[in-house]
Amino acid sequence: QDDIPSLKDVVPWPFGVAIDERETTGASSQLVTKHFGQFTPENQMKPEAIQPTEGEFTFAAADALMDFAVDNDLRVYGHTLVWHSQTPDWFFEKTVTDAEGVETAVPLSTSAEDQAVLRARMRTHIETVAEHFRTTYGEYGTAGNPIVGFDVVNEVIAESEPDGLRRSEWFRVLGPGYIAEAFEIASEAFNGGDPEGPVALFINDYNTELPAKREAMFSVVEDLLAAGAPVDGVGHQLHVSLAQPIGQIKETLDRFAPLGLLQNVSELDVGIDGTITQEKLVEQGYYYADLFDVLRDYDLSSVTVWGPTDTRSWRSEGSPLLFDGQLQAKPAYWGIVDRA
Ligand code: XIL
Repeated sequence: QDDIPSLKDVVPWPFGVAIDERETTGASSQLVTKHFGQFTPENQMKPEAIQPTEGEFTFAAADALMDFAVDNDLRVYGHTLVWHSQTPDWFFEKTVTDAEGVETAVPLSTSAEDQAVLRARMRTHIETVAEHFRTTYGEYGTAGNPIVGFDVVNEVIAESEPDGLRRSEWFRVLGPGYIAEAFEIASEAFNGGDPEGPVALFINDYNTELPAKREAMFSVVEDLLAAGAPVDGVGHQLHVSLAQPIGQIKETLDRFAPLGLLQNVSELDVGIDGTITQEKLVEQGYYYADLFDVLRDYDLSSVTVWGPTDTRSWRSEGSPLLFDGQLQAKPAYWGIVDRA
């Protein structure tokens, strides 16, 4: 580990990794600080982690990662505020009391009253997150506060829907306007409403390399911008496999480029289908090499791999990352380094 090049020194953009508390100590933390200049909390800033119960905010795990960032001079990419997944059910429910005084949780309806409830919850959640990190780490954009960006909305696109929007609980209760509203609230909360503010606000999604999803996301983003929503950038997760043509990834970056937004690769991993063999690992090395050759042509705001090692990956069966469980550099690592 000691004598190999640092990845962050050989790529042209801020290089990030998804981590949790296991990466804040020991050999894994050394791997992270050697190769990466930024990280995304893998789970610790999701709604279920931060507000498991309405009004009870739990920032201990997120703060432990923030402290690690401050101690090691790493940037933090926040993830995520408004999502259909890893968001507690209470967001979308209300309690009704029957004649016997028995309380039951029922889904919020689309009445104006229930919509106001969910809107207020969205606002409270986003504002409390922004305020917590400001109070604890100092104003955004100043030394001490490592947060440089945030996924405001995650996975809101569904190419199968005529309007391209996922039928989530957010959508069901609030309709399509909830996305712009989330950006308005986040812009005020993190950046004081300044469109040039220090925290870049992203719309993030997977499969954006596939043409149908790409087009659905493109028109949603175009509409958001036309409506004046303070969207700063698009995040492409890039959870791909060796079968994914790299040309389609390039087409996606080219498609969004004219919008003048930031673009980032937010959750990169490249899974191997079937049995993991040395041959497949070498093929994966060439895939990473070819992919980074393409990515190097773009001024991305950051590129993040979704985990430090294969054994820590949410897709571990496909050994999709740059280091193995022994923290050894894989051909995937060398693919990036050799072409740099
Ligand atoms: C994943 C994490 O890696 C897992 O640990 C967790 O169990 C589920 O979520 N898209 C996203 C990420 O935006 O938040 C997801 O992360 C992977 C897919």
